[in-house]
Amino acid sequence: MDSIIRTEKVNRFFKSGSEILHVLKDIDIDILPGTLTILKGRSGSGKTTLLNLLGALDKPTDGQIYFEDMNISGMSESARDKLRRYNMGFVFQSISLVSLMSAYENVEFGLRVAGYPVKNRHTRVEECLSFVGLQKRMKHRVQELSGGEQQRVAIARAIAHKPKVIFADEPTAELDTHMGLQVMKIFKDLVSKDGITIVMSSHDHNIIELADHVYSLQDGEIINE
Ligand SMILES: Nc1ncnc2c1ncn2[C@@H]1O[C@H](COP(=O)(O)OP(=O)(O)OP(=O)(O)O)[C@@H](O)[C@H]1O
Ligand SMILES: [Mg+2]
Repeated sequence: MDSIIRTEKVNRFFKSGSEILHVLKDIDIDILPGTLTILKGRSGSGKTTLLNLLGALDKPTDGQIYFEDMNISGMSESARDKLRRYNMGFVFQSISLVSLMSAYENVEFGLRVAGYPVKNRHTRVEECLSFVGLQKRMKHRVQELSGGEQQRVAIARAIAHKPKVIFADEPTAELDTHMGLQVMKIFKDLVSKDGITIVMSSHDHNIIELADHVYSLQDGEIINE
């Protein structure tokens, strides 16, 4: 099967004062559509940096990244912005919910940004919040929700515009085991029922077990185990 995301010898350097950090080293990965891939590795191994590159939020210093055979590494800012808006969903701490808005308003806002047809928005917001089990909490402000509930609102927002890929950076890190597994159940269902591709990071063994494919990062390199 053709991959949905593929990288060729991707390197990412960062400048920190006078120092140059080699954070990702010759990364070659291949992600098939309709699978759940987990990037694992210790703190500082490069998981978030790699997710940012795969999600077109950042550009590699060198190497190529393909999204459905389209080379995105050299794409303009506006082309990458469009790609993200229509094809990708993000569950990242850096892309946070608006705490004073309700769960409903947060998901609706995401649809507006993605240019989702106005007449279908209401139904779609309700559908997505129901899917993550929050039909009774739709009108609650985000700040009135528990951590797990907030995480589920973030998932509802990430899936609402029907992206092909969802990127999630440690989506279960702040959750207890039960809640973490509940989030993973939602992800597994999205993959098996809707054919969505999910790429996420984690260092929790119970979570990593649930992946279709695992890439281990160590000091910026993919290692075989
Ligand atoms: N913008 C940046 N400028 C300089 N160094 C950076 C930058 N972003 C990341 N780094 C460095 O790159 C390395 C990898 O960071 P990254 O955030 O990808 O790790 P991680 O695997 O996600 O870690 P964690 O599990 O703690 O989230 C770290 O040493 C970090 O300090
Ligand atoms: Mg990280």
